[in-house]
Parts: sequence; structure tokens; C-alpha cells
Amino acid sequence: MEKFVIHGGKPLKGEVTISGAKNAAVAIVAATILCDEPCVLENVPEISDITMCMKILKAMGADVQLVRKNVVRFDTRGITSPHVPYEMARVMRASSYFLGTLLGRFHEAYVAMPGGCYLGDRPIDQHLKAFRNLGATDELENGEVHCKADQLIGSQIYFDFNTVGGTINAILAAVKAKGRTIIENCAKEPHIVDLANFLNSMGADIRGAGTDVIKIKGVDYLKGITYPIIPDQIEAGTYMVAAAATKGDVLINNVIPKHLESITAKLRKVGVTVEENDESVRVHVDGALTKTSIKTMPHPGFPTDMQPQFSTLLTLAEGTSIVTDEIFDNRFRYVAELRRMGADISVDGKVAIIQGVGKLNGAPVAATDLRAGAAMVIAGLAAEGTTEITDIHYIQRGYECIEKKLQGLGADIKKVIVNDPQSVKMSG
Ligand code: EPZ
Repeated sequence: MEKFVIHGGKPLKGEVTISGAKNAAVAIVAATILCDEPCVLENVPEISDITMCMKILKAMGADVQLVRKNVVRFDTRGITSPHVPYEMARVMRASSYFLGTLLGRFHEAYVAMPGGCYLGDRPIDQHLKAFRNLGATDELENGEVHCKADQLIGSQIYFDFNTVGGTINAILAAVKAKGRTIIENCAKEPHIVDLANFLNSMGADIRGAGTDVIKIKGVDYLKGITYPIIPDQIEAGTYMVAAAATKGDVLINNVIPKHLESITAKLRKVGVTVEENDESVRVHVDGALTKTSIKTMPHPGFPTDMQPQFSTLLTLAEGTSIVTDEIFDNRFRYVAELRRMGADISVDGKVAIIQGVGKLNGAPVAATDLRAGAAMVIAGLAAEGTTEITDIHYIQRGYECIEKKLQGLGADIKKVIVNDPQSVKMSG
């Protein structure tokens, strides 16, 4: 097991480069199953969720080769069975995308009920609704979702609410279906647009990605291409908040400023200076941070994936801030860890009330999920003293070389192997 050890209180200074977007990459890597020729993906982030997706493809018979750092060649023609290995599929939420892509290619799919970060109940009823509308049936057999269709016929799909995964899975299942599909009340996240651009580059016919209505005309063949994945707006936002929390001055390269608009607006609201360039943003703080209220919403609203990180910043802002997470039922588990560092936060259901404190103090804490772990890193960087963060495997699911990137900004952070058999196990 590994942990991060951070000696905090140092302002982050310098430049950092953002990697490819995790939530675009997991969808696009799964989508390679639909490709009738080999294809090459660039800007593939080196994170454990992507490593797992590639392991799944290899286990199913695909040829996956590292061309060079962050560039991978996929040839999925060797896949003959629509069965994802159970133990690999059950650990990730993104494994649900193999349902849509295998159904799209084989008209059948067997995928374990998805796992991933515990953020509350995360059903896939909307995903299954989309598949049924296209002519598929589904059953739960020994913990696996088994979807099957004699053939997939284009149809109308109306989601009950914005669902990123549901929208992505509907696209994956419809892109080679017979006829036209209209998907309404779609999610509009940048990674959905990136998936549609990837598929259209191969010859698909998908219009309207990034809006409420996506129209798809089924095609028979998708040719091989080379495609660069978009930069990760949540990784970028995380470094923006870390720069602000440490009162540093950081240039964040390889970003799409438009994807950061809601994060930039909130940072400016609390007194952080954000300078936007074509493909970078500069973040620095000159005075005290002030309170604000945040409500997470589907894109283009404030992203739920930035809620733990921004809440951590607000623990250092003057006044009382209110944070409401409208997307997930239980995304405040990190608050108990922040309290160990002196934060003054109370949580009531989906709402956190944050009283600003002058400073945080280093302490031994745990990462409770991916973005909560990022919040712990930010807290440790800003705190006085030493912070140790265990369960960093959560963080490594979505942040490429986070300790190296932070060391490049002057942070005192080390990854340490924990082999002390006496180390305390978190109880409960
Ligand atoms: C994706 O999760 C992301 N994961 C999440 O990122 C992100 O927080 C979320 O979208 C919202 O932006 C990946 O892309 C791999 P949803 P997903 O379907 O698809 C409920 C991170 O930190 N819902 O938009 O699961 C669901 O429970 C991760 O990178 C249903 O009820 O999100 C949630 O409350 C965490 N039924 C809400 O809708 C369904 O069929 C939004 O979920 C589907 C979803």
C-alpha cells in the first residue's frame, strides 16, 4: 500500500501541463470495440482507470500497443466474445460503457454491475432504458448485466434527467443501429462531445453532441483513425484550486478555457485572479479569499467532480459558504477527514455549511474516493505541518503522476510505501 506525505504551507509556483481527460478516455477506449480497423489514440492519460480499460480489451482478445508515452494503438478485431471478465468490470463505473459498445457490435453484452467511487446510489436504469428503446432486452445473471438484441433499430430515447453515462451508452449502442435515433434530454459534458467527434472521425453520423438533442444515423463501418483526446477539465480545475489554496501563482498548460468557465467564474467570485490564454490559464491570489455559495449542476453548470476540491478551498475563505451537491446523494464523505485538519464544516444531506477558518493543520487522513482524495491533497498542500494521505489508489485512478506534477510546482510531497503491518486499519 502507498501513501502521500505532504509538508504543507508552500505556495505552488511555476507551470504544469494537463493530461488527457479521464472521462473522455474511458468512453473512447471502450468505443474502439466499434472500430472496424486499427486506430491510434493520443493524449491518453496514464491513470489506473485507463489501464484497467486496456486490460479488459486485451483479456477479450484485442491488440493494444503503447506507441509512445500517452499514445496507444488499438486493434479490437480479435475480440470474438461479448463477455467482459467479471473481476475487471466490477471495480469501475466506466465498465458500464462496455455494455453499449459490445451491444453495438455484437448485439449482446455481459458486463458485471459497475463499481467505482461510492458517491451514493448509482443505478443504470437510464442506460437500460436506452438499450430497450433500441430493441434490446436485459437481465441480471449472477451479478452480470446481460443485454441482447436480434438487431438494434434506431428509435427515440428521452432521458428522465441528464445522465453522462446514459448519454454515452446510448450513443455507443445507436451508432451502428439500423436507421435514425434521436436522444433527448442529453448530458452536455465536453467528454460527450469528444466521444461524438471521435466516432464521427471514423465515419459515424452523430449530430448535436453538447446540446439537449443528439441525432444519430446508423452506419455499417467505422474506419481507423488517429485521434487526440481532449484535456481533462477536472484535472485542470484541481490544479487551479490548489494554486489558489496555497496562495501561489501557477500557469496551467494544455487546457480548453471554455471547458473551465464555471470553475473560473467561481474562483474569481472568491477573489482569485484567473488569466485566460488560448490554451492555458494563469491562477494567482493577491488578497484574502471570501465566501460563496455553490450548487453542482450538469454541464455547463458547476461540475460535481470539482465539489470536494472547491469546498476545501472554502474552508480557508472568510465567512460562511454553502455547497449543495445536486448530482450525487453522498459526496461529502471527505468532510470528516477535513475536520481532522481543523475545518469547520457541517453537512445536512446534500448541503454542506462551511465556516472559514484561518488555517488548516496537517494530520493523518484517508482518501475516501477519487475527488475526495484530490481534496485531501489540496488541504495538505495548504495546511501548516505534515499531512499523510492513505488509500491513494483512489487518486491514482484519475490523476496522472500527481505527486511529480506537484513537485514540479515546488510542493513538498512524496509517495511512500506503507509496509508497516501494525499500520492502523480504518475501522467501520
Ligand atoms: C459520470 O458518472 C462520471 N464518471 C463522474 O465522474 C461524474 O461525476 C458524473 O458523470 C457526473 O458528471 C465517468 O464518466 C466514468 P451520471 P455517471 O450518469 O455517468 C444518477 C469522477 O470523479 N443516475 O451523470 O455515473 C446517478 O446515480 C467521476 O471522475 C441514475 O439514477 O454520472 C447520479 O446521481 C465520479 N440512473 C446522477 O444520475 C442512471 O441510469 C448523475 O449520474 C444513471 C445515473
